[in-house]
Amino acid sequence: MRFSTVTAALASLAACVVAAPVELDARGLYPLPTDDPFYQIPTTIRSASNGQVLKSRQINTAYDVLSQSTWQVQYKTTGALGEADATVATLFTPKIPSSPPKIMLLMAPVDSANPNCEVSYGTRDPTSGPAGYDAATVGVDILAALSNGWYVAMPDHEGSKAAFISGVTEALAGLDGLRALLNFRQVLPDSTGYKAIIHGYSGGGHASAWATQFAQTYGKGLNIIAGCYGGVPVDLLATVQKLNKSFFASFAISALAGMSNAYPELKQWLVPRLYPNGTAAYQAAKTDNTCDVAAAQPFVDVYSYIKGGEAAISEPIPAKYFNQGKLGQPLSTNVGSISGVLPVPVFQYHSASDEIVPYPPVPGYVADQCSRGAHIQFSTTAVSEHLTAFIEYVGDTFIFMKNAFDGNFGGTDKACSTVQTIVAPIFSPAYIAAIGPEAYAKVLSLQGSTVQGMKINPSARA
Ligand SMILES: *[C@@H]1O[C@H](CO)[C@@H](O)[C@H](O)[C@H]1NC(C)=O
Ligand SMILES: *[C@@H]1O[C@H](CO)[C@@H](O)[C@H](O)[C@H]1NC(C)=O
Repeated sequence: MRFSTVTAALASLAACVVAAPVELDARGLYPLPTDDPFYQIPTTIRSASNGQVLKSRQINTAYDVLSQSTWQVQYKTTGALGEADATVATLFTPKIPSSPPKIMLLMAPVDSANPNCEVSYGTRDPTSGPAGYDAATVGVDILAALSNGWYVAMPDHEGSKAAFISGVTEALAGLDGLRALLNFRQVLPDSTGYKAIIHGYSGGGHASAWATQFAQTYGKGLNIIAGCYGGVPVDLLATVQKLNKSFFASFAISALAGMSNAYPELKQWLVPRLYPNGTAAYQAAKTDNTCDVAAAQPFVDVYSYIKGGEAAISEPIPAKYFNQGKLGQPLSTNVGSISGVLPVPVFQYHSASDEIVPYPPVPGYVADQCSRGAHIQFSTTAVSEHLTAFIEYVGDTFIFMKNAFDGNFGGTDKACSTVQTIVAPIFSPAYIAAIGPEAYAKVLSLQGSTVQGMKINPSARA
């Protein structure tokens, strides 16, 4: 696929040499974000308003069958310390748009501290995107949303610095991605009466939960009616502990690198504490353009890279960032304070046998939120591995979002509840109806495949 696309592009280049320049680089691929002027931050960025569109270009993606027009926009946002930043979002117009507009703010699982691994790059041409680019969850979500007539805004929510797992960065860049869509008439001609739902899984679930926490503070004025997300790491330290020495240990290294990208104080603490092998792993996490995070360092003892080992992580500076990275904590930032309580109804789901993102802290988080006034419908089953759980829950997530757009929150607008079954199991008519034929075909094509070392192996049990 990769070569045929490139060949076709080169053939069309040869056929009309004087046409508008094709933007392929020396490799015959789209230039990497670090080489692409589109991603460069304008010097005037400080005078722009949050969500203001700075640059735009129309693109083709693998989802053109359901998108009448797809654009990348670069927009103004705010970094974790309150600094002006700009990042890119991919915006989709459904073939048959809902009216008034229904919008899915899709937070992709990017999981990388390398700016070249952002989802906008992988989506622009999935056949030439980085090897580790996750077209599985993103593709199913985009196709299902477009099939339902929803607009999709998919921001590079790590910001320009690839601040992986920095919750504040993800929240602000995510919410401004929705503002960018509302500001961009070529995709959304008239936003009157719109409703938006925040959706994502895994690293994208983390970004979704953080954006939902900020929905009525930094997101003031946006009509976000619900959150719908799963596989969320609620406690970063517990996540690093679980990942350490596992097949997925590299995610822990990426997390330290990503947080260091957001917070110079943490970077200044970390860099001198790394042994040479740790420095190499840290640099690789920030520069490996294969973006295949899991393959990078399977089974390493992450703590052995750091002088002082595990105990060093308890020093005041890292402890501060691990603590403020806990979901649900009250937090004051340079862009205002949040209580940590979710301000809108949320559907949250998590496999009790998740091998990557620890399940044990999640029920406690949900109970704490509910005791503080949040409304969560929490769904869990014991059935599956991390990525398989995403596939098995797609039907239920789209049913929740469809109903919420229609004003029916299934009681989640009034109280908390816990569900222990999947209502629309994979392969059932309700599952297929919820996501549409194109997304369902994508689900079927993913069966038995492996994405970043994660097996997708759904079955009809529920
Ligand atoms: C790293 O992970 C292994 C395996 O889970 C665990 O036994 C070990 O205690 C961890 N190392 C530290 C320093 O926590
Ligand atoms: C990294 O280097 C340190 C110091 O030489 C060593 O103790 C540790 O085992 C190494 N870790 C790995 C994963 O190679």
